[in-house]
Amino acid sequence: MIYAVIAAGGIGSRMGNLEKPKQYLTLKNKPIIAHTVEKFYVNSYFEKIIILCPDQWVSHTKSILKKHLPENDRVVVLQGGSTRNETIMNAIKYIEETDGLDDDTIIVTHDAVRPFVTARIIEENIEAALKYGATDTVVPATDTIVESQNKTTISNIPDRSKLYQGQTPQAFKAKLLKDLYYSLTEEEKDILTDACKIFSMKGYDVHLIEGEVHNIKITYPYDLRVAMALLEDEKK
Ligand code: CTP
Repeated sequence: MIYAVIAAGGIGSRMGNLEKPKQYLTLKNKPIIAHTVEKFYVNSYFEKIIILCPDQWVSHTKSILKKHLPENDRVVVLQGGSTRNETIMNAIKYIEETDGLDDDTIIVTHDAVRPFVTARIIEENIEAALKYGATDTVVPATDTIVESQNKTTISNIPDRSKLYQGQTPQAFKAKLLKDLYYSLTEEEKDILTDACKIFSMKGYDVHLIEGEVHNIKITYPYDLRVAMALLEDEKK
């Protein structure tokens, strides 16, 4: 079975001091999280769409989705975790307890604050996760990436033609991700903030899916302005 896992457990500290986490800010006519969930909701591959948010926002999230999605019996809202990976683990725990986990259970994980994901990206993630076990959505790096070990001088300038910027979705065989995650030490868990890195560190290939430049993550107030402009474009 295939599940969408929408990570909305963050508080959006880089967005500034808001009265609510950024995923609940309104973009055009509805909250960002509703735009994002809708992209998954229209895809019939998903058994369930699991949304994970901070505990105190669970009932608010349920009412937003009830209001903005026509019929939401496939939508489940749960409490997220203290880190993004812990949030994903809460979703896997729910799947295990309700439907059971087998080797082919796939989760397509996605940031709640990336509302411009496309059907093509979602479908390619599903196909590749079934075939290869783990995927990451990326776009080629456009800026030269400069590495500095001491924050003052350059230690390395990697070859840009081999560099990509990570986006989401990232899709995984859920049982394998769970087993790999719980094999990590607490120190490793602190460092391995990206779920794909868990696979590559443990020697598994992660298949790349071509993202889109417009599949932006809303992180800073500036991104909200870009998102408004992109929505205007979508309407044309
Ligand atoms: N996220 C999550 N659980 C966490 C932390 C983050 O599900 N414990 C989610 C966020 O809600 C977001 C996505 O992961 O949709 C990407 O994270 P980011 O943009 O860093 O969101 P925040 O953690 O909310 O932002 P900030 O780092 O500025 O506080």
